[in-house]
Amino acid sequence: MVPAHVGIIMDGNGRWAQRRGLFRTQGHLEGLKTAKKIVKAAADLGISYLTLFTFSTENWKRSAEEVGFIISLVKEYLRRELDFYRENRIRIRHTGNLEGLPPDIRSEMNLACSETAEFSGLQVILAFNYGGRDEILRAVKKIIDKGIKNPAESDIAANLDNPDIPDPDLIIRTAGEFRTSNFLLWEGAYAEYYISDKLWPDWESADLIRAVDEYKNRDRRFGGIMIK
Ligand code: FPP
Repeated sequence: MVPAHVGIIMDGNGRWAQRRGLFRTQGHLEGLKTAKKIVKAAADLGISYLTLFTFSTENWKRSAEEVGFIISLVKEYLRRELDFYRENRIRIRHTGNLEGLPPDIRSEMNLACSETAEFSGLQVILAFNYGGRDEILRAVKKIIDKGIKNPAESDIAANLDNPDIPDPDLIIRTAGEFRTSNFLLWEGAYAEYYISDKLWPDWESADLIRAVDEYKNRDRRFGGIMIK
């Protein structure tokens, strides 16, 4: 079966640029083009949810120039691609800490989410200012605010950013790194991981098809035993 929810850690933009003697920001520009191709490919494959790790709570450690560049890139992307989302009935959603972001990108994100809220095609979840630990911490704070004294796992799940979205089935990481980097820590507990050596800007729709094909051959046990 095609995975319902795929998450992608889009890694390697900086290396892609550096290998060509370009500024790192050029790699992010190229990475954005790839993201658009992969969104289309995911919709064509019949994937229902695609979470893209766009900016992490740890990415603030980068230079002010690079951080500013990524933030304005995403801001422009959200506005520029509205027609593309409409044509393809794509719904944009957000996960992460919106409050820690400048007001202009916050309002752009909210606008893209509300303008596409009714679309029933692929849901693209932009993990922006996102950290798995931060999301769990914010869930715990919501639980405390609600006065829940003895929370169950289901209380944590219900207080994450998008409780209606099923856990990811497949998490892809590009650029050959074997790390979760704080991505979907709670939701990804039983996700299948797929690591690609290719840098994100070099990814094509064929790479997504390959990852999904490999996923289809995995035995998912969720801690149980294999049933043949
Ligand atoms: C990781 O590469 C990439 C990022 C931190 C930024 C990702 C942003 C985009 C692809 C553009 C925005 C996309 C959307 C969908 C709005 P890296 O810089 O860590 O690469 P490196 O490990 O080679 O240095």
